[in-house]
Formats: sequence, C-alpha cells, structure tokens
Amino acid sequence: MSQSKLVFLFAVLVLCSTSVLGFSSPQLKIRQDTSLNIFGGLKGAFANEEMGAKKNEGLSNGPNINDNVTVNGKAVQGAVVGQKITVVAGRARVKIPVNCQKGDCGTCMAMVNGKKVKACQTALGAGKCTIKTL
Ligand code: FES
Repeated sequence: MSQSKLVFLFAVLVLCSTSVLGFSSPQLKIRQDTSLNIFGGLKGAFANEEMGAKKNEGLSNGPNINDNVTVNGKAVQGAVVGQKITVVAGRARVKIPVNCQKGDCGTCMAMVNGKKVKACQTALGAGKCTIKTL
C-alpha cells in the first residue's frame, strides 16, 4: 500500500470517527414538565398584532323587549320584538304545534290580537300582543 493511500485511509478514519462520535453522544436535556408544548412554537405568533379597542359584540342597544305579551292569559317575560310567535309561546311554556315551519300546512294557526295567523311565520310586534292557541 502506498503512503498516499495510507494517508487517505487515515483521514477517512478520523473523519468518520469524529462524525460518529458527534452523533452518538447527543446533549440530552431531561424535561421536568409533562406538557407536550404542541403550540409552544406559536406562542408569539400574534404578539405584535394591534387589534385596537374591542367592540362589544352582540346587540348594540340590547334586545327590544316587549313586556305587553300574553299567551292564553299568561304574561310572557322577556319576549323580543321580531321573534316568531311559536318562540314567544314557548317562553310561556305553551306549545304551539308545528309541522312544515314554512307557512304551507297551517298546523301552527293561532290567534294574535284577534286575528288568525300562522304562528311559525308571524313575528311579534312592538305593541300589546294577545296570543291564544286554537
Ligand atoms: S308549521 Fe306549517 S304553516 Fe306553520
């Protein structure tokens, strides 16, 4: 074997041994906590976003409540203007039977202020409202 081959072989041996040693003895860090830290990398993802003052969500002026509602003589508390008559009756624990809920079948007929209406399609008005089931 020539001397250059021996030098080459020695160099390869040294390189292999350092790289093997470099990978074979990793720095082990023993964690003390048990969390998986799945989202730890996203911790600062939104840190520099400025969202401004947060607006209160929902109804800005509160619900428009109608306190002059009765269902079969029972006063209804907290009925909201625009709710369906079936929902308002449900607040008074009076069940109005429904079927199609599209206004086609007439199952949900009720008397509202003396007029026969389809309760599934009629919204509660702002004034005094007397609902009677049939
Ligand atoms: S449920 Fe059919 S018309 Fe109201």
